[in-house]
Amino acid sequence: MPIQVNGSMVSIPDDPRTSLLDLLREQSHLTGTKIGCNQGACGACTVLVDGERIVSCLALAVQYDGRAITTVEGLAEGNDGSLHPLQAAFIEHDGFQCGYCTPGQICSAIGMAGEIARGIPSHVTEDLAAETIAISRAEFQERMSGNLCRCGAHNGIIDAISEVYGSAHAAQDDAALVKEVAQ
Ligand code: FES
Repeated sequence: MPIQVNGSMVSIPDDPRTSLLDLLREQSHLTGTKIGCNQGACGACTVLVDGERIVSCLALAVQYDGRAITTVEGLAEGNDGSLHPLQAAFIEHDGFQCGYCTPGQICSAIGMAGEIARGIPSHVTEDLAAETIAISRAEFQERMSGNLCRCGAHNGIIDAISEVYGSAHAAQDDAALVKEVAQ
């Protein structure tokens, strides 16, 4: 079964050692997903798999047989061709400088919103028994700590995320949007 990437079918590579990142960049020419450390430490290669975030450099493409991948290029497709609200917020809040980490930051934040909507606590969540996780700047900072920005745009990144996912309701809405993109 092929892999679905942004709604298009992509065949599984013959070489089982091919990473999902290489499949996206080299075979599908979707170079929005960046390669940074290539060892799971920087988050530049983050994509969504059935709405959940993963670092694609550590994933073998064959593992994702039959799954739906969303890259930064696919986000606008799920929003009628307009920028995803988070993409627009990154521009508004100067959430980038060189832009290299930006696709990973945006995909990661969308996956993070789904985790909050599903009630998955983080290291800084105060009430682990709460049905709805209280959103705070500290929650966003902790949950985005796997995505590094060497330019130092972290404050703008968190400002953008706070604008879009400043309520649990917004996080819920976006989880639905990502699900639509993945289908
Ligand atoms: Fe995958 Fe850095 S390139 S985490």
